[in-house]
Amino acid sequence: MCGIVGYIGHREAYPVIIKGLKRLEYRGYDSAGVVLYDGNDLKLSKTKGKVSDLEARAQEEISLTGTIGIGHTRWATHGVPNDVNSHPHFSNSGNLVIVHNGIIENYEPLKKELISRGYTFKSDTDTEVLVNLIEDVKKKDNLKLGKAVQIALNQVVGAYAIAVFDRERPNEIVAARLGSPLAIGIGKDEFFVASDASPFIEYTSNAIYLEDEEMAVIRLHKPMKIRKIKDDSLVDPYVQELQMNLEQIEKNGYDHFMLKEIYEQPAVIKDTYRGRLHANEGLIKMAGIEDNLQKFLNADRILIVACGTSWHAGLVAEYIFEEFTRIPVEVEYASEFRYRNPIINANDVVIAISQSGETADTLAAIKLAKEHGAFVFGVCNVVGSSISRETHAGAYTHAGPEIGVASTKAFTTQITVLTLIALRLASAKGTLSNSAYHRYLQELEIMPEKVAEALEVNDKVQAIAEIYKDAPNCLYLGRGYNFPVALEGALKLKEISYIHAEGYPAAEMKHGPIALIDEQMPVVVIAQKQEHYDKIVSNIQEIKSRSGKIIAVVTSGDTQVRELADHVIEIPSTVDALSPLLTTIPLQLLSYHIAVMRGCNVDQPRNLAKSVTVE
Ligand code: M6R
Repeated sequence: MCGIVGYIGHREAYPVIIKGLKRLEYRGYDSAGVVLYDGNDLKLSKTKGKVSDLEARAQEEISLTGTIGIGHTRWATHGVPNDVNSHPHFSNSGNLVIVHNGIIENYEPLKKELISRGYTFKSDTDTEVLVNLIEDVKKKDNLKLGKAVQIALNQVVGAYAIAVFDRERPNEIVAARLGSPLAIGIGKDEFFVASDASPFIEYTSNAIYLEDEEMAVIRLHKPMKIRKIKDDSLVDPYVQELQMNLEQIEKNGYDHFMLKEIYEQPAVIKDTYRGRLHANEGLIKMAGIEDNLQKFLNADRILIVACGTSWHAGLVAEYIFEEFTRIPVEVEYASEFRYRNPIINANDVVIAISQSGETADTLAAIKLAKEHGAFVFGVCNVVGSSISRETHAGAYTHAGPEIGVASTKAFTTQITVLTLIALRLASAKGTLSNSAYHRYLQELEIMPEKVAEALEVNDKVQAIAEIYKDAPNCLYLGRGYNFPVALEGALKLKEISYIHAEGYPAAEMKHGPIALIDEQMPVVVIAQKQEHYDKIVSNIQEIKSRSGKIIAVVTSGDTQVRELADHVIEIPSTVDALSPLLTTIPLQLLSYHIAVMRGCNVDQPRNLAKSVTVE
C-alpha cells in the first residue's frame, strides 16, 4: 500500500506531487512527505497525518521551489506512523533520497550488516535500510545511481515500488517495481512516476506500467531505459494511451467518493455489460470467454479466489454458477488458499476477482494456481493491473476508478461480469431452459434502471441511520443469493463506521447469534419475495419474539414483512439470482449514512487502504 509520486521536468514539482498524493491517499494516509531539489539543496518535509497536514507543514518549513521531487503517502508496515518513519528517507550521506511502497522482508539482516559497517538509522523502517544499501553499493564501486539500485534490489527479498534520486545527479529519477504497482507518465520534456496514473492524468495520457522486476532510469532530454533488474537485459517500453479522465477521479459535487460511487452503479453496470450483452439476440459475447470456452466447459470445477468484498462477489458467483451451469464451484479466501497446500488440478479453472488487481494475497493465489497447471481467469477493474497481467485471460469490470476505500460499485460490477460468464457457459452447456436464459438476459439489461430505482430509498435509509447510528452492534441476515450480501452489508458497516457487525445466513441465527438479540440489537434482514421467503419470515418472527429491532429490505409491495419489521426498505423485484445487485444498495447507503453521522472518515477509514499489496 502507500502511494508514491515523483516528478522531473519544467514545472514546479511541489504542486504536482501534492495533488498527486491526494489522489493516492486511498492507498494509505497515516503520514506523508515530500522532498524537492531546487538546484542547490534537497528540501524535506514530512509528517504524521494526511497530505493536508503535510501541506500545512511544508509551507512553514521549506521553500516549495524545484522542478524535481518525490513524495509519499503512507500505510504503515514497519514502524508506527510518526514523523520520523514517514517517507521520503535519506541515506546516511544525505545524497540519496527514496520513497517506497512495499515491504523489504530481509531488512533485518541487511540492517545488521549495514550497522556493522558504520551506518546509522533514524527510523524503524525497512525503507531506510534500502536507501542505505543502495548508498553502500554505490560507494563501494563508485557506481551510478541506476546500477547501484539494480545491485541493491538483487539483494532484497520482498515487494517494492520505489523512486530514488541522487543530489549529485539531479536530472534523473530511478524507479523500480516488484509486486507493487508503478506507472510512468511521459509528457513533453517531463516525466511522472506514480503508484497509479491518477496523479498525472491532466498532464499526459501516455504511460508505461513497469512490470515486476523492471527498473527505469528516467532522465530529462534522454530516452528512457527500462531494464530487467535480475539479468540487466533492456526492455522495449510499451507506451499505453490512458483511458482515464479527470472527471472520473473527482467527487463531482458529492460529499464523498463512496456516495458518488454508490450513485454511479446504474451507469457502470451498463458499462460492464455494454457490447457483451445482446439481450434481443439472446447472445453474450465476451472475448476472454469465447477464446477459452473449452477450458471452462471441460473444467472439473471452478475455484474462485479473492479477498474482502471481491470474495463476497465470489460467493454470489458460486450460487449463480452452480445454478446456471452445474459446474461445481469453491470459493476461497486468497490468503488461506495460498498457504494451505490446496488441491489444484490442471482441469480446474481458477477465477481471481479483484477490484484493484494488486491485492498481494490474490496475486500469490494466482501464481500458485498457475504452478499447478490450472487455467486462471481474472475479473479486475483496474486496466493493466498486476492481476490482469498475471492471469491467462480475463474480463474487466469497467466500473471506472473506485477511490472510496469501501468497495461499492466494484461489487455490483463484479457480480454483473460473473453473471454474464455464467450465462454464456449455461448457454453453451444447455443447463438453463431457454425461457430462463432469456429472462436473465432481459432482466440484466433493465438492471441499471432498477438499481436507479433502488437508490431512491436514500432518504428513508438516512432516517433509519439516524435511529441506529449509536448502536454498538448490528446483525445482517440473508439467505441464498443474499447470504453474501448480508456479509457484504456487515463488512461495509464495520469498515467505515467502526460498529461491530456480523453477517450470517438467516437460518444459522438459531445456532448461536440468536443469543445476541435483545431490544438493543438492530438486525438487518434481506427478505426478498423469492424462494425461501416463508423461511425468512419465520426468522424475522424469531427476532421479533426476542425484541430485536428489524430493518427489512423487502420487495416492493411486500405486506407480510411490513407487519413484523420495525422498518422496511422497499426495492424493485427481480429474478432471485440477480437480486444481490439491488439488495446491496440500501446496505451501502445505510453504512454510508451511519458513518457520516458518526463523524467517521468515510473515504479513508482508519487502518485501511484501498489496495492491500502486502500480506
Ligand atoms: O482490490 P481487491 O478487490 O482485490 O480488494 C480486496 C479487498 O481488500 C477489498 O474488497 C476490501 O475488503 C474493501 N475495503 C472492502 O470494502
